[in-house]
Amino acid sequence: MEYRNLGTAGVKVSPLWLGTAYFNTRIAEEDGAALIHAALDAGINVVDTANAYSEPRGYAETIVGKAIKDCRDNVVLATKVFHPMGDGPNDRGTSRYHIMEQVHASLRRLNTDRIDLYQLHRPDPEVPIEETMRTLEDLRRQGKILYFGTSKFAGWQLCEAMWTADRLGLAPIVSEQPPYSIFNRAIEAEVLPFTRKYGIGVVPFSPLAGGWLTGKYRRDEAAPADSRFADRSMDFGTATYAPHFDALEALEAMSAARGVTLSQFGLAWLLAQPGITAPIIGPRTLAQLQDNLGALEIELTADECAAVDDIVPPASELVS
Ligand SMILES: NC(=O)c1ccc[n+]([C@@H]2O[C@H](COP(=O)([O-])OP(=O)(O)OC[C@H]3O[C@@H](n4cnc5c(N)ncnc54)[C@H](OP(=O)(O)O)[C@@H]3O)[C@@H](O)[C@H]2O)c1
Repeated sequence: MEYRNLGTAGVKVSPLWLGTAYFNTRIAEEDGAALIHAALDAGINVVDTANAYSEPRGYAETIVGKAIKDCRDNVVLATKVFHPMGDGPNDRGTSRYHIMEQVHASLRRLNTDRIDLYQLHRPDPEVPIEETMRTLEDLRRQGKILYFGTSKFAGWQLCEAMWTADRLGLAPIVSEQPPYSIFNRAIEAEVLPFTRKYGIGVVPFSPLAGGWLTGKYRRDEAAPADSRFADRSMDFGTATYAPHFDALEALEAMSAARGVTLSQFGLAWLLAQPGITAPIIGPRTLAQLQDNLGALEIELTADECAAVDDIVPPASELVS
């Protein structure tokens, strides 16, 4: 596996990261642990979780902490803060109060003394960015977090965070975690030009658009019973989804011509985009993980990428 720097940071990370958003909900605890071990065995060295993932909230971190107990120092551990952890007014967000409380709660759940990448799960319009950035810097100086990053920040919000860090003499944001896939290219308008210019790592979430880019959903058919969309009452026969299936059929023809699965094609496309550090995959099964890993063997040509642009134009968004 070819490791790369995380943006301007010196730490080396794998070109795919393992996500844990559905641990202990759609993925049983022991299956989650097996996914982590299989991913690490294959060379993935980053596990991405969040304080708010799972039921009960925080339990995904507990599963991760247990699974990596014996190999902690081979893992770059990424987690997040923002989403509500309780019903109180200070049980959410990116205030100094909430971050200080939650970073320690995450450290306990993860059973570790440091978080390698601490990410703001969302921008918080109710907290001054100076307060959040100073708190992250304090934690970094204490060694409780090594690097910090963002998720779902708009281009201007990333610029504001970087500008604030520079103005106050703090460490910079090293990564942004946006939604990005062939079906959601919105970040190409404002976020990617900024991250590329300033060397911020980009770690896309939902790289297969939550499963759209796997071929499991078919026009005029119900979602498979074990799939993520099974209980969402989506009627794939309606005009709403016609653009999705038109695009999928064209993409499936391209991946078939290449002799790869649609999901591998979708991940390889992301890996071919300039400025992308590593898509965060979210396999539910070991078979899905093995399939996703196959994307690392595929290098799309400029002609193939141009053909994708004809199917789903740059900066467009079929799913949000
Ligand atoms: N920062 C944020 O706000 C945010 C938001 C979302 C996610 N994330 C992170 O990103 C990670 C990945 O997100 P995601 O799960 O949405 O990623 P994704 O890659 O877009 O979707 C994963 C889903 O695709 C399906 N899939 C994958 N490989 C497959 C294969 N070979 N064959 C058939 N189906 C396949 C599975 O769906 P089925 O379950 O239907 O089989 C799987 O659950 C999360 O775990 C989390 O760490 C972050």
